[in-house]
Amino acid sequence: TPSPAAPSATSATPRPVSLCVKRLVYTNDAGEVVKGVCSNFLCDLKPGADVNITGPVGKEMLMPKDPNATIIMLATGTGIAPFRSFLWKMFFEKYEDYKFNGLAWLFLGVPTSSSLLYPEEFGKMKAKAPDNFRVDYAISREETNAAGEKMYIQTRMAEYKDELWELLKKDNTYVYMCGLKGMEKGIDEIMIPLASKEGIDWIDYRKQLKKSEQWNVEVY
Ligand code: A2P
Repeated sequence: TPSPAAPSATSATPRPVSLCVKRLVYTNDAGEVVKGVCSNFLCDLKPGADVNITGPVGKEMLMPKDPNATIIMLATGTGIAPFRSFLWKMFFEKYEDYKFNGLAWLFLGVPTSSSLLYPEEFGKMKAKAPDNFRVDYAISREETNAAGEKMYIQTRMAEYKDELWELLKKDNTYVYMCGLKGMEKGIDEIMIPLASKEGIDWIDYRKQLKKSEQWNVEVY
């Protein structure tokens, strides 16, 4: 159960935890098969096993309470995990005190189309709530932009940069980023010129967004 906290714009609901785990197994330079410690521990758990959980549970990456919010989710690879749970809450689960009626916009970057995570689920969400859900993929090793550059998540976002900037000026837009560290810088790079066109320093603006819980980053 989350600990009591000061009133905030976001909320945590004490519910079961779901994890999205990719099992890591590779052969090292010495030809030995190496198994990732955490991912293999989790993937090999037996149903019913006790597991201790640690971390800032209920304090970071919380969904906005406002059911009419715009929620922009930026993920690379398994960084999709928190957003899958956000999207289930928005489109698949039923709550007495929450019925999402805002805009959820997911950008997901993966290397190949075969590594695209949960596309069927996102398709169902889109069919169920076409006005409330947008999803854009960036398949880095199969797609490029018009300039022939690799299609990273920020490259895809750049196609919608003016629209994204307009959304970022609303006080009920919340951005969440999860995945590879490199994307944080990539996203700043597209925002800096957009903000500066209006005389705004993006880095300061982003700090303000962070203070009001509208800019949430979990990168590694
Ligand atoms: P690539 O590996 O083609 O360079 P996964 O976690 O499944 O490997 O996916 C991570 C995705 O993020 C891949 O498409 C990867 O592309 C991409 N990626 C790698 N570096 C960056 C970066 N600096 N900014 C945005 N995306 C990145």
